[in-house]
Amino acid sequence: MPLGAAMGSADSRLRVITDALPVGIAYVDQDKIYRFANQRFAAAYGLGPEAIIGLHADAFIWRDAMVLGDPFFEAAHSGRAVDFIHPARHADGRMLTVRTFLRPDATPDGAVHGFYVCSINVTQQKEAEAALTQAQKMDAVGQLASGIAHDFNNLLAIILGNLLPLRDEDRVDPHVLEEYIAPAIRAAEQGARLTSRLLAMARKQPLRPERIDVEDCLADFLRLMRRTLPATIGLSLDCRGSAAALHIDRAQLETALLNLCLNARDAMPDGGDIRIEVDYPPATARGRFVRLAVSDTGPGIDPAARARIFEPFFTTKEPGKGTGLGLGMVWGFVRQSRGTIDVENRPEGGARFTMLLPAAEPGEIAEPEPRPAVAGRGLVLVVDDNHDLRHTVRRQLAGLGYAVLEAEGGAEALELVRGVPDLRALVTDVVMPGMSGFHLAREAGRLRPELRIVLMTGFDAAERADRGDLALPVLSKPFDPRELLRVIEAAPAARPD
Ligand SMILES: Nc1ncnc2c1ncn2[C@@H]1O[C@H](COP(=O)(O)OP(=O)(O)OP(=O)(O)O)[C@@H](O)[C@H]1O
Ligand SMILES: [Mg+2]
Repeated sequence: MPLGAAMGSADSRLRVITDALPVGIAYVDQDKIYRFANQRFAAAYGLGPEAIIGLHADAFIWRDAMVLGDPFFEAAHSGRAVDFIHPARHADGRMLTVRTFLRPDATPDGAVHGFYVCSINVTQQKEAEAALTQAQKMDAVGQLASGIAHDFNNLLAIILGNLLPLRDEDRVDPHVLEEYIAPAIRAAEQGARLTSRLLAMARKQPLRPERIDVEDCLADFLRLMRRTLPATIGLSLDCRGSAAALHIDRAQLETALLNLCLNARDAMPDGGDIRIEVDYPPATARGRFVRLAVSDTGPGIDPAARARIFEPFFTTKEPGKGTGLGLGMVWGFVRQSRGTIDVENRPEGGARFTMLLPAAEPGEIAEPEPRPAVAGRGLVLVVDDNHDLRHTVRRQLAGLGYAVLEAEGGAEALELVRGVPDLRALVTDVVMPGMSGFHLAREAGRLRPELRIVLMTGFDAAERADRGDLALPVLSKPFDPRELLRVIEAAPAARPD
């Protein structure tokens, strides 16, 4: 009703005004009888504003917040102003977080006639606060973990770099190889997988997003996953809407889905169903996304664990059964890919994890993979402040057929770039005391535009602020010699040699 038409009486004017406000408003008299309620307040109880008038407040107002609300209610009734936050179930079934203000209606001589109730729905605000706290917590733990993972990767690169050549040595006794060297390699490789999960969680793993067909990728994944699941667990795929492509790191997406499916399997020891659903919500201001949901028919997420499941090392599984890194890795990967992940317990039972992942631009073309080179040639300069690591990379390069020069820092490296005209490639660490690898790369590129430059790092270099406009290939440690060869040979040079 337009305000003008309601001007006739003060009552109807009050109603128009209060009905327009985004809060629930009511008045309760000294006998705890409702004398006024706006539309929003009454709707919370599934009533119209007129139907609530004359009802006793105790009859239903504290239905869900009785224990919490009673003392506040009494306080207001005795003339004090109170504010409190409480859970409440809306008549439409939603569980809300509500902030309620009670203000006494008292005369100057202190006689209380009743109180005003004003309730504001703060559910979204509370959820946003919880999400922020969660994100801050994940950031802090992520920084700690990625620092450790970075140093660990250097150590693993040295260990693997020294053990792997022994595996191919004819002089090594097969017994020694089997008993001592092979287990050490396996352990170091397992360590590398662990650090890569930590980096994934900290959103610092090197990602290689490409255009992928969602339904193709999921069909492949399902074939593989079915073989891994026991016969008591069903796995189905449900694709709705017109398909779009994703712009994402395919291997990491598969790892994320694998983690979600294995968690679902573990939650259903007596069997059940896992369902993967895909649909394509309309584009928003944030862009176009593909929605991917994994749900199961297990017991759902324990509410007490809900706030912690994405934390690294949080697990409810027995020792030795889970490390608690699965969901942390999924969370980190999704966030690093500029997506979101959410979890809910389905009303019909079981957990549902929903990811929104960035869709590829229509017509985006994947870069063709460069053809693999078979052997290296030419002179390569290796720059790393860690002596052992430099040595290891030197041996790998020599094994690939390159001639190698070494430098332990940026200044020394630049001298060599200036003084050695035959240099074909520069392979440099990123984080070094003095001059960073980025700085060195920029200077070296200026001096020698034809030089192939490759960065080595334990972090995702794309995340680093000082990267500037450099678009250089990045090798993430630890790497194997084939990867080293592939990246050096595929590295762009301004003037091909
Ligand atoms: N589908 C699910 N249903 C019920 N609870 C789940 C589900 N998925 C995860 N959880 C809970 O979240 C916890 C953390 O999961 P996460 O994948 O991070 O670690 P984990 O599975 O325990 O160990 P890891 O994945 O490292 O082997 C689990 O221990 C479990 O309590
Ligand atoms: Mg898991």
